Amino acid sequence: MTRVIAVCSGKGGVGKTTITANLGSQLAKMGKDVIILDANLTTPNLSMHLGMPLYPVTLHDVLKGRASINQAIYEHENGLRIVPSGISLRDLRGVDSRDISTALLELLGSADILLVDVAAGLGREAMSAMEAADELLLVVNPEMTSVTDALKAAKLGEQVGTRVSGVIINRRKGLEYEMKTEDIQSMLDGADILAEIPEDVSVQKSVAARRPVVYHAPDSDAAYHMRRLAAGVAGVAFTEKLPFRKRLWKLLTAR
Ligand SMILES: Nc1ncnc2c1ncn2[C@@H]1O[C@H](COP(=O)(O)OP(=O)(O)O)[C@@H](O)[C@H]1O
Ligand SMILES: [Mg+2]
Repeated sequence: MTRVIAVCSGKGGVGKTTITANLGSQLAKMGKDVIILDANLTTPNLSMHLGMPLYPVTLHDVLKGRASINQAIYEHENGLRIVPSGISLRDLRGVDSRDISTALLELLGSADILLVDVAAGLGREAMSAMEAADELLLVVNPEMTSVTDALKAAKLGEQVGTRVSGVIINRRKGLEYEMKTEDIQSMLDGADILAEIPEDVSVQKSVAARRPVVYHAPDSDAAYHMRRLAAGVAGVAFTEKLPFRKRLWKLLTAR
């Protein structure tokens, strides 16, 4: 059975695409059969994170009825498959975002996990993807605006029958003014916190290099926490230790 997981947030720029690319790559590395789908019809960039910006057939062509979904699936060197969206403005003409859910349903049975990079905002584009999913992964930054928008996404998800299966706190800098994990969790109705990914310049470097950080900088803190997230999503034990320098730092800063 295919698990359809929508990576959403409400707010833009919090790390959905970064997490989709890394989580998908890591799950594939763990032997899962994964398809990632770019459901950002207006501002797609999942394929840029993976270094594959141009495709002859995209999700846009499928939504316009010009191609079948199977024609828009591409193999990636990281061992996963990707359904990209078209990046040109011309691609947008004649596309109805409500059809995203139909396209997703057509992929059922084609993979173990279908990971969907959902558009920012809570308009039709996002809702259509959330509606077709079995579960939502909420990505937040540790700040009030992000958590408030994520709560809205969670509530709208519930209205279309899709529940939050976990929360990912991204870009934690460890600064005093950031929201605490327990406050984020209680604002989000006690949802499971699956991962806390630190602010890490390796992520920006890996985006510039168009390779997920789990490949580009596997020894970085961000990559460690991405792997931990993937284990959590797959429901397997995570036994890898924190890098030594990180453990030492934790010890030194413990109060
Ligand atoms: N943990 C992180 N540490 C540092 N920079 C990050 C991290 N996560 C994301 N970023 C940066 O934030 C940018 C926006 O992230 P992105 O995944 O595109 O957000 P969204 O898809 O939610 O709009 C990325 O291009 C990357 O440079
Ligand atoms: Mg994005």
